[in-house]
Amino acid sequence: MSHLPRLSGRRIHSHQPQQPAAIGLQQRLLRTPLVHSRPCTHHHYHHQNKNTFHTSTPRRNLIEDPRYSPAKVAARAKYPVITAKDAAKKKDMPLEAKMLVRDFIDDSLYHPNYGYFSKQAVIFSPETDFEFEKIKDNMEFLDIIADKYKEIEDDMDVRDEVARQVWHTPTELFKPWYGYAIAKYIVTEYKLNNYPHKDLIIYEMGAGNGTLMMNILDYIQQFEPTVYERTRYRIIEISKKLAQRQGERQEVRDATRRHQCVEVINKSIFEWDTLVPDHCFFVGMEVLDNFSHDLIRYDTVTEEPLQGMVAIDEEGDYTEIYTPVSDPLIQKYLSIRKQTGYRPPVLGRRFLRRLRNRLPFAPNMTGPEFIPTKLLLLLETLKTQFPKHRLVMSDFYTLPEAIPGTDAPVVQTRYSGTMVPCSTYMVMPGMFDIFFPTNFELLKDMYQQVCRPSLGMEKSVKVQTQKQFLERYGDLERTRTYSGENPMLMYYENNKMFLS
Ligand SMILES: C[S@@+](CC[C@H](N)C(=O)[O-])C[C@H]1O[C@@H](n2cnc3c(N)ncnc32)[C@H](O)[C@@H]1O
Repeated sequence: MSHLPRLSGRRIHSHQPQQPAAIGLQQRLLRTPLVHSRPCTHHHYHHQNKNTFHTSTPRRNLIEDPRYSPAKVAARAKYPVITAKDAAKKKDMPLEAKMLVRDFIDDSLYHPNYGYFSKQAVIFSPETDFEFEKIKDNMEFLDIIADKYKEIEDDMDVRDEVARQVWHTPTELFKPWYGYAIAKYIVTEYKLNNYPHKDLIIYEMGAGNGTLMMNILDYIQQFEPTVYERTRYRIIEISKKLAQRQGERQEVRDATRRHQCVEVINKSIFEWDTLVPDHCFFVGMEVLDNFSHDLIRYDTVTEEPLQGMVAIDEEGDYTEIYTPVSDPLIQKYLSIRKQTGYRPPVLGRRFLRRLRNRLPFAPNMTGPEFIPTKLLLLLETLKTQFPKHRLVMSDFYTLPEAIPGTDAPVVQTRYSGTMVPCSTYMVMPGMFDIFFPTNFELLKDMYQQVCRPSLGMEKSVKVQTQKQFLERYGDLERTRTYSGENPMLMYYENNKMFLS
C-alpha cells in the first residue's frame, strides 16, 4: 500500500499509486537526519536495585557505558517521581526527576509554557470549500491542497521561525461534506431514539477551528429545521487559542446565519467534573491520538508487567527505567484489559521465548507496549459524567513510521520545511508531535467493560472504517471529481469510526 503523506502531524492514506503530480507533497517527506538540541538516551538500562529492570541490550555492554556507572544509578534512584501536573507548575523543564512515560509525554505535548500544543497550533482550513465536480481527479485535488498548504506555510515562515504545526484533518479538507455526514448520522440516530421527547444535545471534545460544529449545525438548520430548534452544541476544548477561535468563528457571518445554540468551554476533558444527565452525542474527531500512553514491558520469564519511567538527569539526559507496576491507573487498565481476554502480542510465541531465555545474553524483558491509560480516563469520565452519551469518534488505527513497539506512536517535527520522524519519544519536550494509533477492537471491548458493563456484547457499539461510514452517510455525488474518483473516500484510509 502506498500512502500519500499528510503535510504535517497527521497523514492521508490512499491506495492510489504515487504519480508525478503529487511530487510537491512527496518532497515534504524527504527524510533528513535530525539533530536533537538535547541528547536523548534510551533502551540501555541497568539498575542495581533488584526491583528495577534493564532492556534487551547484552549485559556486557553495560559495564562499558559510563551513563550507567554505579554513581549515576544511585543518583537516579534518589530522584523524586513527579507528574505532568507537578511539572506544569514550573516554567522550566524538570531536571533530576522521574516521570511515568504518560506524564513525560503529557508534559511534552501540553506543558503550558513549552508544550507542543501550547505553541501556535494551526489547523489547515482552506478559505473556500472545494468544488469537487470541477476538479479533474484525485491528483489534481492533491496539487490544489499542496499549493494552498505552501501559501500558509510561507506566511508562517515569515511570522514564526520556530513552531510550525499545520495539521489537516478530514473535517477541514472535505468541509462541509464530512461534517454533513456526521450530522446525518447523528440526526438519524436521534430521530430513531429520542425525538420528539428529548432535545438534541451534542458535546464535541477538541473542536480545532470549530469547522465541524459549523457544518453539523448548518446541516441540521438547513435539512432538519424542527430538530434545529431543539439543538444545543457544547465544545470542550483544551487550547485557549483554539477555544477563542471557535467562539469567534461565527463573527464573519451575518447575524441571521449565526448559531445561537453554541457554548465553548475552555477545559481539558480530563478536568471535566460536571454531571450531564441528558441523552447526548459525544463527538471527538482526531483527538484520541494525542492522549498520552504509558509504556510497559514484561519480564520474559514470569510475564510480570513492568511500568516504564523516564529519569531526567541533571544535564537533561533521559534514561528509560522499568519497575514492577505500582501506578494505580496502569494497574486498573491492565486489570480491565485482562477481563476482555486480550493477549499482548509481545507475549506471543511463548515456546520461542522459553528457548531464548536459555541463551546466555537473553533479554530479561519483552519488547515495549504502549497502553492508552488516558483513554481509560476518558471512558471513566464518559461513564460517570455523561452516563447517557452516544459516542462518535474517529481516529487513526494504524500509522506508518511509528517508533518501535506495540501501538507505538509517531514522533515527528518539521525541520527546514521537511517532516522528520524520530525513533524515540524521549526527545526535547515541545518540539515534537507525538501521536498514537488506536486499537479500535480493543477499545470496543474496554468500552463495553467500563461504560456498558451490564449490557453484554451490545450490538449498538460499532467500529467501522471511515470509508464504510462515509459510503453510508456521506454525499458521494458532491464529493466526486469529474473523472469519477472520490477523494473523501480515498484518503484517511487509516481512520476508523467508533459509534456507540
Ligand atoms: C488534531 S486536532 C483535531 C481538531 C478537529 N477535531 C478536527 O478534526 O479538525 C485535536 C484537537 O483536540 C484538542 N484537544 C487535545 N487534547 C484535548 C483534551 N484533553 N481535552 C479537550 N481538547 C483536547 C486540541 O486542542 C485540538 O483542538
